[in-house]
Amino acid sequence: MSTNVENTPKRVNRQFLLACRPVGDIKESDFEYKEAPVPTPNQGEVLVRNLYLSLDPTNRIWMSDMAQYMPPVELGEVMRGVAIGVVEESKNPNLQPGDYVTGLLGWQDYVLLKDEQANFITKINPPLPDPLFAAVGQLGPTGVTAYFGLLDIGQPKPGETVVVSAAAGAVGSVVGQIAKIKGCRVVGITSSDEKCQWLTSVGFDAAINYKTTDLNTALANACPNGVDIYFDNVGGSILDTVMSHLNLFARIPLCGLISTYNSTQPVPGPLNFNLILMKRLRVQGFIISDYHNRWHEAIKELGEWTKLGKIKQEYEIVEGLEKAPKEILKLFNANKIGKLIVKVA
Ligand SMILES: NC(=O)c1ccc[n+]([C@@H]2O[C@H](COP(=O)([O-])OP(=O)(O)OC[C@H]3O[C@@H](n4cnc5c(N)ncnc54)[C@H](OP(=O)(O)O)[C@@H]3O)[C@@H](O)[C@H]2O)c1
Repeated sequence: MSTNVENTPKRVNRQFLLACRPVGDIKESDFEYKEAPVPTPNQGEVLVRNLYLSLDPTNRIWMSDMAQYMPPVELGEVMRGVAIGVVEESKNPNLQPGDYVTGLLGWQDYVLLKDEQANFITKINPPLPDPLFAAVGQLGPTGVTAYFGLLDIGQPKPGETVVVSAAAGAVGSVVGQIAKIKGCRVVGITSSDEKCQWLTSVGFDAAINYKTTDLNTALANACPNGVDIYFDNVGGSILDTVMSHLNLFARIPLCGLISTYNSTQPVPGPLNFNLILMKRLRVQGFIISDYHNRWHEAIKELGEWTKLGKIKQEYEIVEGLEKAPKEILKLFNANKIGKLIVKVA
């Protein structure tokens, strides 16, 4: 494990604050850069230095004041973000200097933890993942989202057909590979031929480029026995189209609705909502924090699959916290494969 990044502490705390709520696409000017002193922990507190910052579609939700599953980030507050950090100083018996943690550490170099639970802090126990940043990828929130969404809500059975959207993304790519482990036929939907090729290289049975093909026809060809599980990451017109291919009693783990996050208009529900009744579909939204108490169960199994080479993840690592406000746009313009991470220092 490289320790370069761990050995170059900065004594200024660079921070990005939420300057204004985005209208439509995120703009760099929605964030304000600030340099603050590095905080000193009091009794019960812990100083953590951030190493890797995960960029996630949910950052866009937190920046807005739409109805959501946590309070939105306040204007002028440090931008909320999941990160991996190392404990530098601790006045809390639960964490020691040198411990690695993940959780809501924010878009900054240093964070002073006052309440581990409020920040959803999880200690990364040795042996550390190699690479360490996998702790926010397939061995962290990304993998855990895919794991519980597919297995707990989707309940796949061998021989069933699973369709996943944003399939070449962080969560989608892990969903498809777990579905293969469970003996399913797996079809991915994504936005380019390059991504489609990558999906079949990691075991997807078929991949559909929704930008260049007619999705309805392509799904009929790729799913001759219909669709039993649609793992939805995007919502919108892709959801409408996949719904018309679902079998009786099919399941939709509703993971994300990224096609709607930048919308400036009220977003309509599925056009064919009636199919939920006619086909007795089960649609269930979930948020990964619902599974906080079962986190280690997923990490253990994801770790074993990763070691056996059954789950692979691509990473795009961007150097420097200062790039975060621009790089986050890649989640929305689909300009990356796999998991997008900023190496902070
Ligand atoms: N419920 C939870 O707890 C939870 C946890 C993590 C993530 N999520 C959700 O899961 C989804 C995927 O997250 P992720 O972290 O894995 O991100 P990601 O898939 O790595 O990146 C986002 C991808 O979404 C697709 N996309 C972007 N704009 C789109 C649009 N207008 N229409 C259709 N597709 C679009 C693009 O993929 P293509 O190139 O394939 O179009 C893009 O690469 C998001 O909706 C996110 O909010 C939910």
